[in-house]
Amino acid sequence: MNVLKKTDPVDAFQVERLTVDYDADSGGPLQDFSLNLRQGEITCLLGPSGCGKTTLLKTLGGFVVGRDTGGVLFEGRYLNGPTPDIVMIFQENNLFPWLTVRGNVEFGLKFKRGVGTQKREKVDDMLRIVGLAEAADRYPHQLSGGMRQRTAIARALVSDPHVLLLDEPFSALDISLRRRMHTLMHDLWEKTGMTMVMVTHNIEEALQVGHRVIVLGDRPAKVLIDADTSADAMKDRYSPESLALQQRIESVIY
Ligand SMILES: Nc1ncnc2c1ncn2[C@@H]1O[C@H](COP(=O)(O)OP(=O)(O)OP(=O)(O)O)[C@@H](O)[C@H]1O
Ligand SMILES: [Mg+2]
Repeated sequence: MNVLKKTDPVDAFQVERLTVDYDADSGGPLQDFSLNLRQGEITCLLGPSGCGKTTLLKTLGGFVVGRDTGGVLFEGRYLNGPTPDIVMIFQENNLFPWLTVRGNVEFGLKFKRGVGTQKREKVDDMLRIVGLAEAADRYPHQLSGGMRQRTAIARALVSDPHVLLLDEPFSALDISLRRRMHTLMHDLWEKTGMTMVMVTHNIEEALQVGHRVIVLGDRPAKVLIDADTSADAMKDRYSPESLALQQRIESVIY
């Protein structure tokens, strides 16, 4: 019998005593690191350069596997490699330059079984959602940075993954495009209720997008701040609550 009430948050990831040392001599970025991430939440990760944010994200994607004294549980099972249920978007260079926008998005369905005749429809839907229907036949070099990242998001989401991991996805965009991307992420989240984890260096972005903001300190990485940012007051960047958290974060990072 399922004893969980429907409204209870469930963990998507349980990171348990994770140790990643790329180089045995210097001590890795993650040592005995533990953290739980709830299903259906957007978590933003902040922290100084080199503290291990990308490393943590890669372990959540199954791209990096830690020492076997600990590990990552995804939906209750140990993750020992990449799975189509978890997709990752990087800062840039997410697209194949020789494929059009449509071709890139279609590629997201390559490993998805049972799509068949719905393929075209699914891709068209996704292109509409990210506002790229008109640009479907263009190649990546004919797109702006924002359009490229929207294509990457469309490709990631077309296969209905459970989790979207984003590593500084909007850092190359100007402020107004960046804000449009935040709205898009929020709309996508409302449609899918997907678990998302986003690394960013931008405090304002973290508070805008995240339901939860985690600030990591280095080395080895540890959680310095773990804040619930889901309240409306946190979405107004000039509210006293938001300003207080922004200051607290700045004081531990810089
Ligand atoms: N493949 C690798 N091989 C060896 N060392 C690595 C590798 N990837 C990362 N590191 C080291 O691990 C540490 C953490 O790197 P990571 O990329 O996770 O940091 P980060 O928090 O994402 O930094 P940034 O904010 O600059 O992106 C750094 O000292 C880095 O040099
Ligand atoms: Mg990084």
